[in-house]
Amino acid sequence: LAPDGVREFDLVADEGTTEFRPGISTRTWGFDGSYLGPTLAATVGDRVRVRVDNQLATATTVHWHGMHLPAEMDGGPHQMIEPGRTWTPSWRVDQEPTTLWYHPHPHGETEEHVEMGLAGMFLLEPAEPDRSGLPHEYGVDDVPVVVQDKNFGPDGAISLDTRGFVGSLGDQVLVNGTHSPYLDVTTERVRLRLLNGSSARTYRFTFDDRRTFDLVGTDGGLLEAPHPTAQVQLSPGERAEIVVRLQPGERPVLRSEAPDLGMPAVLAEMNGGADRLDVLQLRAADRLAPSPRPARQLADIPRIDPGSASQRRRFDMDGLQINGRSMQMHTVDEVVEVDTVEIWEVRNQMQFAHSFHVHDVQFQVLDVDGQAPPPELAGWKDTIYTRPGVLYRIIMRFEDYTDPDTPYMYHCHFLAHEDAGMMGQFIVV
Ligand code: C2O
Ligand code: CU
Ligand code: CU
Repeated sequence: LAPDGVREFDLVADEGTTEFRPGISTRTWGFDGSYLGPTLAATVGDRVRVRVDNQLATATTVHWHGMHLPAEMDGGPHQMIEPGRTWTPSWRVDQEPTTLWYHPHPHGETEEHVEMGLAGMFLLEPAEPDRSGLPHEYGVDDVPVVVQDKNFGPDGAISLDTRGFVGSLGDQVLVNGTHSPYLDVTTERVRLRLLNGSSARTYRFTFDDRRTFDLVGTDGGLLEAPHPTAQVQLSPGERAEIVVRLQPGERPVLRSEAPDLGMPAVLAEMNGGADRLDVLQLRAADRLAPSPRPARQLADIPRIDPGSASQRRRFDMDGLQINGRSMQMHTVDEVVEVDTVEIWEVRNQMQFAHSFHVHDVQFQVLDVDGQAPPPELAGWKDTIYTRPGVLYRIIMRFEDYTDPDTPYMYHCHFLAHEDAGMMGQFIVV
């Protein structure tokens, strides 16, 4: 048993088989099981220690997406775990409570490893008594929803063959590895922690009956206030927490309607832009236990002052490159000074979709083509969808950890793009 304030986890990456649909067995990979991995949870302030045991026949890594931690613990392409070996990163959780996730990051093979099933959620819980009023009984009214699309070949094998520019697009949707999923709801309100764990597909989540729900959190923490809306769009790697209110006996279906990819219609269509997919049916019981109302103020998000920025950098995404360069394992692209604030200007120069993810930090979106960010970009973020031609200015503070020898990554989170080298490296010194 670990002492108080220490969380120890064991993750064994191994091969297995999964029956996604009755009678069809599919070869998959998972952590501590045949597909996906356990939800890890720690309290802000905890010391976390993970023992990752790689029983696969191939080398992999485990990256803690969205976590503020030392570069050596980040699990990027420099922290490979050879077959039969273990890796034991540890760090202290020092950021806002939120919904993070973990997944492999081996250079050039991330899409395959994630598609095979290596991913899981990592919840950060508040240290202080929770005054948000949000449902928080895990598995009862606080539920992880890992959304992935898949293609299966005739033999049941996971196939990456149906590809758009964005990467592999599947016609089947899995939630937490389950095909045709539903959720029994026993409370008036349910909190869904949505993770787009797909490699290429962007979803625009909405309900079949167009009901509104509260958007309460994004990648790096809760929003300042619940935002009532009927839809939330997530590109690969992004998360959103929503609170849905139900009446006894209702059965609304969470689905994805044609996402707004910002691309010309013909191109959008080839990249999932016209697709409608059912995701998860909610089945409310005939009697629902009362749930508190979410508080009017959920969190305090002190805005980072642009005037405090000591460095501006530009990141132009064109082709499958950033600033005209491809990822080189032994090249450091940017050098950041610790305890400084930086503004990064990110622009997708193509007609096609990309996204932008930064390791180690949670950032704030200063503006989108000069306009104040919409509610879904107003909180802490680590990944944003970058619409063609649009300038996103993001601001962040790089704190605590320095390492001249080990870089962090920034990259497009469409996994096929990342694998193709649409990634760069920065060190904090
Ligand atoms: Cu979700 Cu560089 O990763
Ligand atoms: Cu990451
Ligand atoms: Cu991209």
